[in-house]
Amino acid sequence: MMKKSAKFVINHSDKLNGQIDVYGSKNTAMKIIAACILIPGKVRLENIPDILDVQKMILILEKMGGEFVRNGHNLTVDLQNLKPIDPDEDLVRSMRASIVLVGPLISRFGKVKIPHPGGCLIGARPIDLHLKAFRNLGVEIEENQQSCQFNYKSSPQERKVLFSRISVTATENVILFASFQKQKTTISQAAIEPEVIDLINFLKQSGLKINVFGRTIEIDCRQNLKPIKYRIIPDRIEAATFAIMAACTRSNLKINNIIPKHLEALLDKFKLMGIKFDKGKNFLYLKNTPAFKAVNISTAEYPGFPTDIQSPMGVLLTQAEGISRIKENIFENRLGYLSELKKMGAKINILNSNEAIIYGPTALYGAKINSLDLRAGATLIIGGLIAKGRTEIFEAGNIDRGYEKIEERLQKIGAQISRVKI
Ligand code: EPZ
Repeated sequence: MMKKSAKFVINHSDKLNGQIDVYGSKNTAMKIIAACILIPGKVRLENIPDILDVQKMILILEKMGGEFVRNGHNLTVDLQNLKPIDPDEDLVRSMRASIVLVGPLISRFGKVKIPHPGGCLIGARPIDLHLKAFRNLGVEIEENQQSCQFNYKSSPQERKVLFSRISVTATENVILFASFQKQKTTISQAAIEPEVIDLINFLKQSGLKINVFGRTIEIDCRQNLKPIKYRIIPDRIEAATFAIMAACTRSNLKINNIIPKHLEALLDKFKLMGIKFDKGKNFLYLKNTPAFKAVNISTAEYPGFPTDIQSPMGVLLTQAEGISRIKENIFENRLGYLSELKKMGAKINILNSNEAIIYGPTALYGAKINSLDLRAGATLIIGGLIAKGRTEIFEAGNIDRGYEKIEERLQKIGAQISRVKI
């Protein structure tokens, strides 16, 4: 696994050019690996990125007896001999996505204990929606400040979950739990992000009957799931990061292996801003647009503007002509990167923890900054590329969580970026 003690050193690099491939979706890979807990036999997954979060997920399951063979982006997963032991506490605590192990592990072993996930940089991120849904479905939960112990008692007559707030991982957790049950389960107010739909498609192909009507998901009673070969969707957040990077650096850049439909909310904003692009069946071609207009963004659940693209969009808005407003509605505290951009010279008025006004265009200057978290880190790489002079971004490991060998891939399209061990 890559270590956290490294920094990225970036020198001004505009007009990147050539092509870049988008790798498989982090937030799908994690859930589909968890889904393999329910499948007897070897599952062959394709397009699995080799990133820190996936490496940790694999390690958690290996420690429980799972077997994995990686060959490039192909991953064979065999969880038949998984032991009914609790997942490693430190690894689980280090990665919030590991919460999606709970649903399949209760389903398979009847019980599981995990450490209570703490808050994190982007907001409080409680797990109350997960807990309430599991309780509704007959799971007893003993909770204290350190951990949650789940014990499956018995199924209620009616297996229905109505979420009071849309949550991606809570929806996925319930889907994974329900996939192994003897009765039908209905989820209302479900998340329908492309990553959730890809998990559903994987389970469908494995033999589960599951239907989606708007925000309602019906999971039929347990079938004998079969091991399959499955290619996961490309990472729409990585694709958006590269598209925004191209627009910021005034590049002509072809971004391959994408599903353009997943990027509609971003492309609608590009159109309003006057950023020129072409799109094909599985690619996006960004064309150098010397000047573009400011725009307002307000994040929402899919198909709204994704919270995970809010920060890359923030750096783009520092280069747009006019005044833009950002409103983050999903997480309470996801504007931290704006303070780092201000250190680089951006003119930003942070109104509160989820609203800001950006004045553009402003020249950015190299600075020593902190990656803060995954998406903030990727955003600051973009900031470093357009800044005059040298930028150092500390805690490269935050970026490695979700972007595979980012510096090597960006060097190939002309970016001056290197990883320096510290
Ligand atoms: C998923 O997080 C993604 N992570 C996030 O990606 C993404 O930003 C987020 O969905 C929103 O799209 C994974 O899939 C591993 P939520 P998740 O539950 O599921 C509140 C990235 O950079 N909430 O949909 O944890 C929560 O605090 C990451 O790749 C509760 O109140 O997000 C938030 O305000 C970051 N109680 C809102 O709901 C709960 O029990 C939506 O969060 C659960 C969530």
